Amino acid sequence: MDVKNQIEIERKYLVDVVGEIPNPRISDICQTYLVSDDGSVRRVRCRQEALQGAEPRYYYTAKRRLAYDRSYEHEEEISESRYRQLLAEADPSRGMVRKQRIVFYYENQCFELDCFFAPVVDHLLLEIEGAETAESVIMPPFLRVVADVTGLPDYSNSRLARRVVNEMTVQHNVSLRPYNTFGIDACADSFVTLHNEANFRELIQSGMLRQKPFFILGGGSNVVFADRYRGLVVHPHNKGIHLLEKRDGYCYVEACAGEVWADFVRYCIACGWHGLENLAAIPGTVGAAPVQNVGAYGREAKDVISRVHLFYIESGTEEWMDAADCDFDYRWSVFKGRLKGKCLIDRVVFRLSESFEPCLTYKALANAFEEQGISHPSASQVANAVTAIRDAKLPNPSVIGSAGSFFKNPVVDSHQAHSLLQQYPDMVVFPVDENHYKLAAGWLIDHCGWKGRNCGTVGVYPKQALVLVNNGDATGADVKALAHAIIDDVYSHFGVTLECEAIFVE
Ligand code: EPU
Repeated sequence: MDVKNQIEIERKYLVDVVGEIPNPRISDICQTYLVSDDGSVRRVRCRQEALQGAEPRYYYTAKRRLAYDRSYEHEEEISESRYRQLLAEADPSRGMVRKQRIVFYYENQCFELDCFFAPVVDHLLLEIEGAETAESVIMPPFLRVVADVTGLPDYSNSRLARRVVNEMTVQHNVSLRPYNTFGIDACADSFVTLHNEANFRELIQSGMLRQKPFFILGGGSNVVFADRYRGLVVHPHNKGIHLLEKRDGYCYVEACAGEVWADFVRYCIACGWHGLENLAAIPGTVGAAPVQNVGAYGREAKDVISRVHLFYIESGTEEWMDAADCDFDYRWSVFKGRLKGKCLIDRVVFRLSESFEPCLTYKALANAFEEQGISHPSASQVANAVTAIRDAKLPNPSVIGSAGSFFKNPVVDSHQAHSLLQQYPDMVVFPVDENHYKLAAGWLIDHCGWKGRNCGTVGVYPKQALVLVNNGDATGADVKALAHAIIDDVYSHFGVTLECEAIFVE
């Protein structure tokens, strides 16, 4: 039986058929998504070709997303009995996808056209495998393109399969391994998933947040769990992205807290809503972005956040908080300060621009375009370049567990910065204001000789000293011990105290 392991690159379009399809091969497909605890998407499929005497064939597939338009795919043909066995692992939060697939060739390119019966999707979905760019696709004249939906989360089959869940889900003794990018195998006493706005109200009214400690968990990309969390993990999982209005050259776009940040960024780029390009490929969720004012490559979330909708836990009241009142600063906001543990964020409105102006203040980004001779890159070129720089410097969390930058870049006064610079003329510093400088924590750690060092289950990433990695089976205590050893060493070398950006949850 066939086994395929490959990188699948594809473009996707919503289309209508306006002519006759030449030599179509038609089959019926039923696919069921399986539970997955490692971030991959697993499914089984039954395919029945519409040919006389054709037997149904069964397949198992595991996909891991690498970028918005490509994934790593393992696919094997399986027996009917294996198929039935695997159905027992069906993900209860997803329904079966039923579709008719028409495969045809045009100008030597293979096209797959899906007509969905369940869930029902407006228009047909066309997939073209192997096409790297929109320009490389020769669209057949008998199809009318409604929209290019390549990489848009709403059009992945696994997303389409998601059932509308209305009930707040509470579970006990839940493994947190699939919920933290460090890959620590911790366990939470209780875990509540919020699927919609009503669930936020229900949770607050239930009083559960007053009975025991709680922790709000987005994408788990910035946390280190101790072995056991003796409290309630609150996981916002509400979805939705809506354009609220266009005004004075800006698009006001509302996104729910549970949206995956990187998918949201790509969605906005595809829709022509600009300002998020430099923040592409950051792990985590939309709801977490205002909390620590995520930032990278010359942009911070605060540059594009217009307002944040939140629920106060004590009173149950709701409020729209303007960005100006969020106390945004480097990796900081009111949600880490005065409002820490006092509210739940359920959605965020972003003010994005209708026109695109690249922000290339970050040197490595500007260099990337200079090398390619591109003076005015497009929005997706910027997002792609940022993704490539991140991929080169930061580990892919689905391969190596990490929490991204583990430490913040410390800010010191000019006096200390100048005396350090006298001793270490090549030290990396960035001016903050006339009295302060920010030092590159990565440089300080690197200079103490930690880069690439392994300490049993944990280590320092060889390509970026700011990143601590899980060598396999790391515990929260192992990570903490390494972080403290680094903090002490940097202090004894430079007299500078590093602060962790990652949060220890114990
Ligand atoms: N450096 C070294 N050795 C290292 C790492 C860095 O000498 O091992 C030097 C670099 O050569 C560079 C300077 O330190 O001159 C700064 O490094 P880099 O440009 O990689 O940025 P960073 O300050 O290490 C910050 C954010 C990242 C963000 C990048 C790009 C913090 C704590 N980290 O890293 O955020 O992607 O800038 O804007 O502010 C994250 O928060 O998870 C994260 C990845």
